[in-house]
Amino acid sequence: MLTPTQRQQYDRDGFLVLPAFRGVAALAELRARAEALVQAFEPDAASGVFSTRNPAVTADAALIASADAVHCFFEEEAFDAAGRLVVPKDRAINKIGHALHDRDPVFERFSHGADLAALARDLGLAEPQVRQTILIFKQPAIGGDARWHQDATFFVTEPVSVTTFWFALEDAALDNGCLWVEPGGHRGPLRERFVREGDALRIEVLDRTPWPGEGAAVPLPCAAGTLVVFHGLLPHYSAPNRSARRRMAYTLHATDARAPYAPTNWLQREGVRGFA
Ligand code: FE2
Repeated sequence: MLTPTQRQQYDRDGFLVLPAFRGVAALAELRARAEALVQAFEPDAASGVFSTRNPAVTADAALIASADAVHCFFEEEAFDAAGRLVVPKDRAINKIGHALHDRDPVFERFSHGADLAALARDLGLAEPQVRQTILIFKQPAIGGDARWHQDATFFVTEPVSVTTFWFALEDAALDNGCLWVEPGGHRGPLRERFVREGDALRIEVLDRTPWPGEGAAVPLPCAAGTLVVFHGLLPHYSAPNRSARRRMAYTLHATDARAPYAPTNWLQREGVRGFA
């Protein structure tokens, strides 16, 4: 699947951009399915507003319950000060998570296949286990940002093994919140770990290495169908979407079964499987 040059790039930079990994029809089918899931979603009081800025704001219980489910989370800015929705439901959802790959047949098809299995193997995942998937809408005008973080914060294994597969389902550009990464930053330490204690979740600081300064980050604008794969230690972020264009993406996070998965990880579920 990968050429020796691509392998070297991945080792050096911590990420790889693979244009046109999936075709137009598959993308359209996934977008339509995501929209249908939102249509069918009935909001209730337990719905979490997702924010990476202040995890305390997140409804811990809703997050934990979503580990094995298909759950819609709202954009923070979808509500006014009184807590009323200020945009239509189909423009108000931040993301759907976290078991689309197992719980929805359309997402399950998209999330498996010989291409992904071969790619995972080439990236060093000898026994990949797809732990989590997220459909991210990045809604027009109110699409929230994701601050600098490392995905290994949320999937602690020893050694680090989590690898992210980030599909652009729509064009991602500077003005609608494309990914930004720190090339080579995966050689740095893991800064934080997201820990679950009973029903409570918290961030634990492991290392005070500052996040990359301006100038150290590069944007990864890309066309729909592009797959960006990156190392669990690679610092990355995405800006808010203030444009009129949505920026839908789908992420899969896989760990390697050979690297023990921490019992303190927030996401615990039975029956995790690979890409085949
Ligand atoms: Fe991330």
